[in-house]
Amino acid sequence: MPVLSILFSSMIHTPASIIAIDGPAASGKSTLGRLLADSLGYIFFDTGVMYRAVTWTALQRGLNPSDETAVSSLAQQIQIDVLPASKDDGRACDVLVEGQDITWETRRPEVDANVSQVSAYRGVREAMSRQQRRIGLRGKVVMVGRDIGTVVLPEADLKIYLDASAQQRARRRYDEIRARHGQAEYETVLAGVVERDRIDSTRDVSPLRAAADAIIINSDSMTADQVFARVLELCK
Ligand code: CDP
Ligand code: CDP
Repeated sequence: MPVLSILFSSMIHTPASIIAIDGPAASGKSTLGRLLADSLGYIFFDTGVMYRAVTWTALQRGLNPSDETAVSSLAQQIQIDVLPASKDDGRACDVLVEGQDITWETRRPEVDANVSQVSAYRGVREAMSRQQRRIGLRGKVVMVGRDIGTVVLPEADLKIYLDASAQQRARRRYDEIRARHGQAEYETVLAGVVERDRIDSTRDVSPLRAAADAIIINSDSMTADQVFARVLELCK
């Protein structure tokens, strides 16, 4: 490469091409991820939907979520597709298993209650993270989950670890459920969030934690727009 172009390429500030966002339940990861992806023209990929799809399918087929061998084998066999939203009903994307649209089924309370157990299985994680890494390495992507900066895409250009108190996160999730006219008790939502975080952060394989080079943002006293503005600056 000529000297001049080397000089220029080192002076131009290109936005981060792979952005990893991790953090506990309802910390605002997908809200932030979607805003960033839209503004940068990148793909938004919420990896949580894949673990939810495996969990729903296991329950649907009558598997016991405690049966690691059966659930891992299922995860390695089923075809999960995550596609751009085909309906304007509040969904962020379409989630398909073997061609069947299960987008809203993945948000059911029984999935919430079992997804962390299923996600702790090595066989399930290997099957999911292999596909996620392949998609992420294409670049121009904002990938959201629990282990993106640590395991799936450790080479990410920018890693954000989004946090907030359990009370604040449960309040946000509770408000969301109520806004969708769902039934919920705040205390039940809080207990569910705390239990999921406990399992996610203490499992042996790819536990939830901030990568050593992640930027940690606590959003307790920030609006979603304020978090977005801060991270957009970091991207550039
Ligand atoms: O939206 P919320 O933060 O409540 O959950 P989610 O992102 O849809 O993830 C659901 C569950 O999938 C998490 O509680 C984890 O158990 C698991 N998960 C994971 O283990 N690794 C990921 N990269 C993403 C999700
Ligand atoms: O993806 P994750 O489960 O981490 O959270 P989310 O679904 O993006 O966000 C949960 C809720 O918190 C949404 O209703 C957001 O509008 C709201 N919220 C936020 O994302 N960030 C804030 N700083 C404040 C609220």
